Amino acid sequence: MPIRQADVEALPISWRARLDAAEIQQALRMAPGASVWNPASLEYAIALPWRHRHEIVHVAELAAIRDPERLLRGVSAAASEAGAKLTLVVEVDEKRPESFYTRCGFEHLEQVVTFRMDTRRDTAHALPRTLRFDAVHPFDDATRAILIGLDHAAFPWLWWNSEAEFLTYSVLPGVATWIGYDGATPVSYIGVTMAEEWGHIDRIAVDPTRQGEGFGWQTLAAAINAMARHGVRTVGLSTQSTNERSQRLYRRFGFERTRDTDYDLWGDIIHRAPGLDLQATERAGSPRGR
Ligand SMILES: CC(C)(COP(=O)(O)OP(=O)(O)OC[C@H]1O[C@@H](n2cnc3c(N)ncnc32)[C@H](O)[C@@H]1OP(=O)(O)O)[C@@H](O)C(=O)NCCC(=O)NCCS
Repeated sequence: MPIRQADVEALPISWRARLDAAEIQQALRMAPGASVWNPASLEYAIALPWRHRHEIVHVAELAAIRDPERLLRGVSAAASEAGAKLTLVVEVDEKRPESFYTRCGFEHLEQVVTFRMDTRRDTAHALPRTLRFDAVHPFDDATRAILIGLDHAAFPWLWWNSEAEFLTYSVLPGVATWIGYDGATPVSYIGVTMAEEWGHIDRIAVDPTRQGEGFGWQTLAAAINAMARHGVRTVGLSTQSTNERSQRLYRRFGFERTRDTDYDLWGDIIHRAPGLDLQATERAGSPRGR
């Protein structure tokens, strides 16, 4: 049954749990009605909006040893009842067999694969550059509209960044975002995080009508050169295993696979009505709900 605020003190929150009582209370406020527990066994599952998107929740904690299947089915049903279009399990720390997810009505959505490169590697960063890159702050409404336009046009629905995500992301320490302009036209954007000698490409997108013109390469090169100037030596990134285009770009650029940090996404789309098109982009129209 759904967890209410008053139930939280009854939950047996282990020292190994990802979320403490205060974080669970916050999760109950952020995704109302989507977290569930079994008062008899005290097993529980906590749902949170995924990347600040309320139409997608992810299971941030599945504290169930005896009957995790019941809990996962429960959180999926409760989230759906509460209005979520999709419930995700993002398997970063733990691995469960496919048969477990199948029994719960989930299916494999994506494998996220990771790459790394050394910025001191001799790659062709100093190519002719035709784009102008402006560092941006998403608190500016016009800039945020450009970022969201590029993002939603380039990525499938599942990976869209919400306004709230851009705003939260942009104030994280070490984060920098640039928009690439061809003349006055925005054609790409890239977001990175820098922490001393380590850096991460969080996001790169090129307007789909302008892909294949070398803008992805230029955008990546501009960001990596800026990171290297800040002292970053190792850059990591991740992409979908099915995203061959981005992987080709990264490999040509000098990135190498780092398999130990790959992870999987499972989603309860089996329960969802036909029409929830995870591949839809803004141009193709918004995905239909249930
Ligand atoms: C991935 C993405 C950013 C690539 O952008 P793009 O502008 O199409 O990329 P480019 O035109 O720079 O590169 C395309 C190709 O030219 C190559 N290329 C471009 N400039 C080059 C250069 N100067 N020298 C050598 N190769 C070059 C790239 O390696 C790539 O090879 P391919 O033709 O075999 O695919 C773009 O497809 C996109 O926005 N996709 C949707 C969002 C996404 O998936 N983002 C990444 C996942 S996190």
